[in-house]
Amino acid sequence: MSSFAPRCGVLHAERTPLDLVAAAHGTPLYVYSRGAIEHHYGELVSALSAVEHLVCYSVKANPTGAVLRLLAERGSGCDVVSGGELARALRAGFPPDRIVFSGVGKTEDEIAAALEARILCLNVESEPELRAVSRVATARGLVAPVALRVNPDIAAGSHAYVETGKAGDKFGVPWEDAPRLYRLARGLPGLLPRGVDLHLGSQILRAEPYALAAARVAELVGALRADGFGIDLVDLGGGLGISCGEEPPLTAPRYAAAVLPAVAGLGARLIVEPGRFVVGRGGVLLTRVLYLKDVPGRRYVVVDAAMNDLIRPALYGAWHPILPVRPRPGRTACCDVVGPVCESGDFLGRDRELPPLREGDLLAVLDAGAYGSSMASNYNSRLRPAEVLVEGDRHGLVRRRETLDDLLRLEVE
Ligand code: LLP
Repeated sequence: MSSFAPRCGVLHAERTPLDLVAAAHGTPLYVYSRGAIEHHYGELVSALSAVEHLVCYSVKANPTGAVLRLLAERGSGCDVVSGGELARALRAGFPPDRIVFSGVGKTEDEIAAALEARILCLNVESEPELRAVSRVATARGLVAPVALRVNPDIAAGSHAYVETGKAGDKFGVPWEDAPRLYRLARGLPGLLPRGVDLHLGSQILRAEPYALAAARVAELVGALRADGFGIDLVDLGGGLGISCGEEPPLTAPRYAAAVLPAVAGLGARLIVEPGRFVVGRGGVLLTRVLYLKDVPGRRYVVVDAAMNDLIRPALYGAWHPILPVRPRPGRTACCDVVGPVCESGDFLGRDRELPPLREGDLLAVLDAGAYGSSMASNYNSRLRPAEVLVEGDRHGLVRRRETLDDLLRLEVE
């Protein structure tokens, strides 16, 4: 399903023409489709319906309040990795008992905030962190529900920057250390070891690594139960990839078919932490052509969005489809779509065949709902884009564009 498709020659979000949204709110502009986000969340829920499960949407993919609220209303849980994300999640209405807290470097303040909120589980990544959680919990007279994030040493085949499940990565505890650390956790005051957690990485397009991970986790759960642990949460992390270029995406049914055989019989609650799968295809970045610039051997389309607004092409070489909102008839030409930032790495797309363009034309950068606005910065002192949520033929601002006052507001003179 694509909620961003042309109708009568104009690219729409659901039933709303994107040129109309840009005219109302300016560019660069993130536009999200409520229908698309709900659809992709729902695909995962139905694919996992054979087992007791909780989809914990990974807030880092897109932490905008309106996106969080709509998922919380659908019954989603969430995965947070900082005190800031925890605050956003609670404010958006996620019940604490549907929140898990991941991350390799939680501070004691963050641990305390999570415990005081009574979240479902802390995914702990090292022995010193186990001791810190124990300290913080006992100082408050609380019991901390914990899972250990184990590193299964599985290559997921994604970009090196977002692979997290191989031995030697900074994430999780080494697989062979897990039994010892669970026993340690049992002996430390203030801890309730109740889960096993892992996360292989991000933008994973094959199902096999998940099948392997699920099988390994099932084995570990069996061994821990035999050792007397009441493991009732199995968290397989996130990472489900969406289509990028030629490769087909990982579908929810293929994912479910890979993991369910191993975990269905455990009688534990299955947690998954998708971010990109839920929101990635649900957002576009709208940008206007500023200049067409021809240099020997290359045509540059200089647009008003840049690497500070969407860093994925610059950082990971990520491929996002780019479409004109109102394509003009005529021959296509090969172009580099670049932003105004003073770096040659500032591109949104290279070597793209685009129809004839003029200054002022609108382009849509697709699949920008995940890790787009959430990774935006003020680099080059650019103001971060506004964000709009579309529902059918209606659209509303959900985050206003930054102003110069916003830019300067933290300076101390
Ligand atoms: N759970 C944990 C513990 C994670 O670290 C992540 C992502 C997720 C879940 C969600 O992963 P997803 O389902 O969205 O792939 N900025 C990169 C992606 C970084 C992912 C970091 N961790 C990008 O733009 O591709």
